[in-house]
Amino acid sequence: MCGIIGYTGSGSCAEKLLRGLDRLEYRGYDSSGISWLDEKGKIKTVKSSGRLSLLREKLGEALPKSSCGIGHTRWATHGAPSDENAHPHCTDNVSVVHNGIIENYFSLKEELIGKGYTFDSETDTEVALKLIDMYYKKEKDPLSALTSAMSRLKGSFALGVIFRGREGELYAVRVGSPLVVAFGDDGNYIASDIHAFLDKTDKYFRLEEGEIACVCPRGVRVTDRDGRERSKEILTAEFSLSAAEKGGYPHFMLKEIHEEPRIISDTARSMAELPIDKIIPWDILDGIIKEEGNIRIVACGTAMHAGLIGKYYLEKFARVSVEVSYASEFRYSDPIMHQGDVLILISQSGETADTLAALRMAKERGVFTLAVVNAVGSAIWREADRSLLTLAGPEIAVASTKAYSAQLVLMYTLAAKIARAAGRLSEEAETAICRGLSDTVPKAVEGIAARDREIKRLAEILSEQDNAFFIGRGIDRYLVTEGSLKLKEISYIHSEAYPAGELKHGTISLITEGTPVVAVITDKNVADKTISNIKEVTARGGEMIIISSDDIDIPPELSKTVFRIPSIGIKGNCEKDYSGIFIPFSAATALQLLAYHTSVLRGCDVDRPRNLAKSVTVE
Ligand code: M6R
Repeated sequence: MCGIIGYTGSGSCAEKLLRGLDRLEYRGYDSSGISWLDEKGKIKTVKSSGRLSLLREKLGEALPKSSCGIGHTRWATHGAPSDENAHPHCTDNVSVVHNGIIENYFSLKEELIGKGYTFDSETDTEVALKLIDMYYKKEKDPLSALTSAMSRLKGSFALGVIFRGREGELYAVRVGSPLVVAFGDDGNYIASDIHAFLDKTDKYFRLEEGEIACVCPRGVRVTDRDGRERSKEILTAEFSLSAAEKGGYPHFMLKEIHEEPRIISDTARSMAELPIDKIIPWDILDGIIKEEGNIRIVACGTAMHAGLIGKYYLEKFARVSVEVSYASEFRYSDPIMHQGDVLILISQSGETADTLAALRMAKERGVFTLAVVNAVGSAIWREADRSLLTLAGPEIAVASTKAYSAQLVLMYTLAAKIARAAGRLSEEAETAICRGLSDTVPKAVEGIAARDREIKRLAEILSEQDNAFFIGRGIDRYLVTEGSLKLKEISYIHSEAYPAGELKHGTISLITEGTPVVAVITDKNVADKTISNIKEVTARGGEMIIISSDDIDIPPELSKTVFRIPSIGIKGNCEKDYSGIFIPFSAATALQLLAYHTSVLRGCDVDRPRNLAKSVTVE
C-alpha cells in the first residue's frame, strides 16, 4: 500500500528519493511523485501516473539540487491512478505524502470547502493536506499544525510532510500505517520500510502509534500526540542489500522460489528445539488438548492458505479441531472467542490491516494470540502475546512464495509439537518430522526447482487460456487453492479452485473442449476418488494438467501431462502412515513455478502485477 520516502541532509535529495521509491515500488506502483524545497525554500513538485520510469522521464536529466524532499509511490484507494491523484499533494505552504486511509475525509472536506478551500483531486490525502495547511496558517508552527490535524483525522495513516521555508526539516506522522526513520552518513531518512534506504544505512527506528518525528540533517526529535518528547532505541537492520536485488534471476519471484530450500531448512532448525510452552503457555495448551479451548487461525490471502495446511496437520497430528478464517471476515463476524482459546495470526508483512485488527480484537477479549510473521518489529510481531518468525527474509515479489513455504514449516512444527504435548504423537515421530523439515524437504524442493523446464512446458498449455480450474481432495484441496490464487494474481487468467468432488455440483457446466484443469494428487487415500473426478472432466473435453506423487498410479490415458513428484515423508516406526506428509512442499513449489512461467509466457509484469500491492495496510 503506497510507499513513502523522505530525505534531509547534505547530499542532493532527488536521486535518493527516486532510488528509495524504486525499492518501495512493490508497495504500489500506479503513480509516483516527489516534492522538494528549492533554494528559496519554496515547494516544488513533479508527479506522474504510471510507473516510476515515467516520473524519471518527467524530471529529465537535470535533477533538482535540493537536499530536502519527500517522495511517494501510490496504490490507488480514493480516485483512479492519474496525475491529479498522484502524491505529493501540495499547497503553497505544505506538501504531503500519505499511506493509509482517512476515514472521515468526507466530512472534513465539506468543512474545509466551507472555509474556502478547493480540491483538485479525488483523494483523501488532499483533505489531510488542506487540514494541515489550515492549522499551519493559524498556528505558524509545523509540529503544532501536525498535532492539531492528527487529532481530527480518523483512520490509519502515515504521512511525510515538508513546509515552505523550513529548510532541512522533514516531518513524519504515524497512526496505524508503518513508518521508519533512519540515520545515514550524509543525512537522515523516513520511509515506509527499511528497504528504501538499505544501500545508505542500516541504522533505524520505527515510529510508534501517534508519534511525530521532526527529522533534520543532524538529528531527529520524536514527540507523542500530547507533545511529550519520546526517546527511541536505534536498531540495526538485519537484512543485507542483496535481499532487495535480483541476484542474476530475471524476476524476484523466481529468485525467491529458488531460495525456498534454504529458508525451509533455516526455519525448521530455528523451531526444532523450541519447547512448546515457549510457544503456547501450558495452562492454555492444556485447555486446548482437553477441548476446553479452541484454536483459530486468521490471516489473508496466501497466509490464510498456509493456515489451511496448518489446520489439516493440527487436526491430523494433534486431533484438535481448528477453524480458519479470512481476517477481513473474522473481524466483522462477531466471532465466538473465549479466554482459553488461541488465535494464530499468520502474516508475511506483519502489517496487514485486517489481520492486525483481528489480533487487537482477540486481545481485548483476553484471548491468547500467537503470531507467525516474517518481519521482526512489525505491528503484528510486537502486539501478539507470542511471535514466531518465518526466516524467509525480505520478500519483494508481490506474489508470496518463499514466505508461504516458511509458513508451512511453522504449521507442521506447531502441529507436531502440540500433538506431542497431547501425547498423540511419539517423541520419535516428532523428531522425525522436525528432521524431515530441515533435511529431506529442502532437498526435495530443490529437486522441483531444478525441473523448471518441465514445468514451463505445462505452463505453455495454460498460457493460451483465459480460464482455468484447479482441483484436489484433502490436503490437495488446500494446495490448489493457493496454486489458483498464484496463477490469477500474476497471469490474469481467471482461475478457480475446487474440492475435486464438488465440481459436479455445478462448476462442471463450465468445462468445455480444451478447458484447462490442474489437478493435484498427493494424498494416496483419496487418489482414486480424484482420478474419477478427472475422468469426469476429460469426458467433457477438459484438458488436464496433473501434479501427482510418484507412488500414485495414474491411468495411461491421463498421463500425457503429468508432473511427478517424489513421495517424501516419514518412514519407520510411526503410530500412523506418515509416508507422504512432506509432498505438499514440493507440490507448492511446482504450482508456484507453473504460475510464474505462465505469467512470463503471457508477458505479464511478474513481480508487480496490476492492481496489487505487497503490504495491505488498508482494510
Ligand atoms: O503480509 P501478509 O502475509 O499478511 O499478506 C497477506 C496477503 O495480502 C498476501 O498473502 C497476498 O495474498 C499475496 N499477494 C499472495 O501472493
